[in-house]
Amino acid sequence: MESILKSENELVENNELIKKEYNEFEIIMLIYKKALNDTVEKFTHLEQLLNEHYKYEVITNITSRIKSPESIAGKMRKKKIEINYENMIQNINDIAGVRIVCNYKEDIYKIRNIIANQKDIKILKEKDYIKKAKKSGYSAYHIIVEMPVKIKEEIIHIKVEIQIRTQLMDFWATAEHKVKYKPKKKLSNIDSFKLYIYAKIINMINDKMFKIYKKQNTNVKDIAIN
Ligand code: GTP
Ligand code: MG
Repeated sequence: MESILKSENELVENNELIKKEYNEFEIIMLIYKKALNDTVEKFTHLEQLLNEHYKYEVITNITSRIKSPESIAGKMRKKKIEINYENMIQNINDIAGVRIVCNYKEDIYKIRNIIANQKDIKILKEKDYIKKAKKSGYSAYHIIVEMPVKIKEEIIHIKVEIQIRTQLMDFWATAEHKVKYKPKKKLSNIDSFKLYIYAKIINMINDKMFKIYKKQNTNVKDIAIN
């Protein structure tokens, strides 16, 4: 992170340097990385507030990644979008991606509400795959936000995809991704169906575990963190 910020400072303080050392794509990616780092930093702070308030680990893990140039190009080709920077910025929402993992569905909505309360974060799009899972069985809550990033004296808004999942949803999605996308061999219909059923079973167990948790723990009021 240090080195990214250092490069970025050089980038904004000396225009000559930009021309010499970075191409346009690298500059765009540095800005996305800055947006990603700022987002993770903000959520790490919110994680502490949430955990202290609820007296248990609401957020268990935060990870982030920048999409590789190959995946960006692949996605644009798949979507039949002409490959140029403008189209990339406009159409690819998950160049910067953050994944927040928690224990229960209820925690997902707590996290979602805290994100919605942040004055500097603008929500562009939300998809609730918990209320309605995807055909594959995939469950999670997705939010596309715009993060303000300060470049020189200017504030620019960068899209970041936030995926919020429970640990069990995350287990399923990671395991499913490995068998569905990584191998060259196409997954059979019967195996796809099995994965769909396992997603339902995993979600059911998640809910049952939550019921036991609730019985053992008295309610803590929801909080608004700004
Ligand atoms: P993309 O164009 O792929 O981003 O799809 P979309 O615009 O419909 O976005 P969506 O929010 O539905 O899904 C984006 C991301 O969610 C993917 O890149 C995966 O990380 C995750 N995801 C969505 N569906 C599945 C699924 O069926 N299985 C797994 N393992 N992950 C999924
Ligand atoms: Mg994606």
